[in-house]
Amino acid sequence: MKNRKKEHLEIVLGEEVSHSYNYWDDFILLHNALPEINMDEIDTSIEIFGKKLSSPLIIAGMTGGFKEAKVINEKLAEVAAKYSIGMGVGSQRAGIEDKSVKESYSVIKNHDIPLKIANIGAPQLLEWNDAIEKANEAIEMIDADILAIHLNFLQEVIQPEGERDAKGCLEKIKEVAASASKPVIVKETGAGISRQVAEKLLDTDIVGIDVGGAGGTSFAAVEAYRAKKIGDNVQEELGKIFWDWGIPTPYCLIEIADLCEEAGLTLIATGGIRHGLDVAKAIALGADCAGIASACLTCNSIDEKMEVFMKSLKATLFLTGCKNLEELKEVEIWSP
Ligand SMILES: Cc1cc2nc3c(=O)[nH]c(=O)nc-3n(C[C@H](O)[C@H](O)[C@H](O)COP(=O)(O)O)c2cc1C
Repeated sequence: MKNRKKEHLEIVLGEEVSHSYNYWDDFILLHNALPEINMDEIDTSIEIFGKKLSSPLIIAGMTGGFKEAKVINEKLAEVAAKYSIGMGVGSQRAGIEDKSVKESYSVIKNHDIPLKIANIGAPQLLEWNDAIEKANEAIEMIDADILAIHLNFLQEVIQPEGERDAKGCLEKIKEVAASASKPVIVKETGAGISRQVAEKLLDTDIVGIDVGGAGGTSFAAVEAYRAKKIGDNVQEELGKIFWDWGIPTPYCLIEIADLCEEAGLTLIATGGIRHGLDVAKAIALGADCAGIASACLTCNSIDEKMEVFMKSLKATLFLTGCKNLEELKEVEIWSP
């Protein structure tokens, strides 16, 4: 069977798999015609999970588990180190089960990345009897600072060979968060985290939530293309029906930012982030940091893309009259 992670990457690179609508466009930050600050003095740095980043940005977990992924992770790691931002790797199941592909993840250890995030799917944790050992193996593999447990049941529903037994997930998250060798966060992968789910997660030892909301890459779309390739018309149709499923990322923030702040959880906004203006909107809506995935893969030059991210974030702070991210959190937001 072809490597699933490789297929995902090929589909994201070759097909249109975005949600039909990007919800960050629903929000406008109030322009300040008299900013009265010097743009060169703006500070975009933050400290999250005890690590200092130059900007509130993380390259979200995407890949690993096949030969070519090593080159991609290496390039992303170079950029994360250069710009002093966080980076995650894709699901490490393959690296745990097949030692020959471990290097496609561990390659990021060669770079001075301020925050490295290991990644395991909740469905895999459910399958493994020794989930904590495996979680620790993932952490060690990339010398991670934190572990993200990802939730991807939308994808599992559409995937022809998907794992559809979600019973016991919360208990597993509790178990791993309580005993893993590094702090744990929970991350959705494009369908978002509601207030009800966030409340349940508060009953665990996790230290953060990546809302992974709708509006960017649609994994229902990705799986629709995979189903099409193998002639599974039913699953393909299902993928099309659920293409736009999910809670849009900015609305997840509106729903849970106060809960996270009260509980002292770090809040990450991944899903549909295209540039620094979206990052700024995420911060203004209560996130501590934003995550970017497909924007790093589908661009001509990742270096130029990062420049655009940094410059557009700084420009937004300037145009809203903010010297730092604390002030940005107070900026007025319009939602027409
Ligand atoms: C090719 C590809 C592979 C991905 N694989 C994973 C994964 O293994 N684990 C995970 O937590 N998220 C994975 N994601 C989801 C991203 O981390 C992110 O949550 C999602 O793509 C939304 O962000 P975007 O709109 O910026 O692409 C993947 C995304 C892409 C594009």
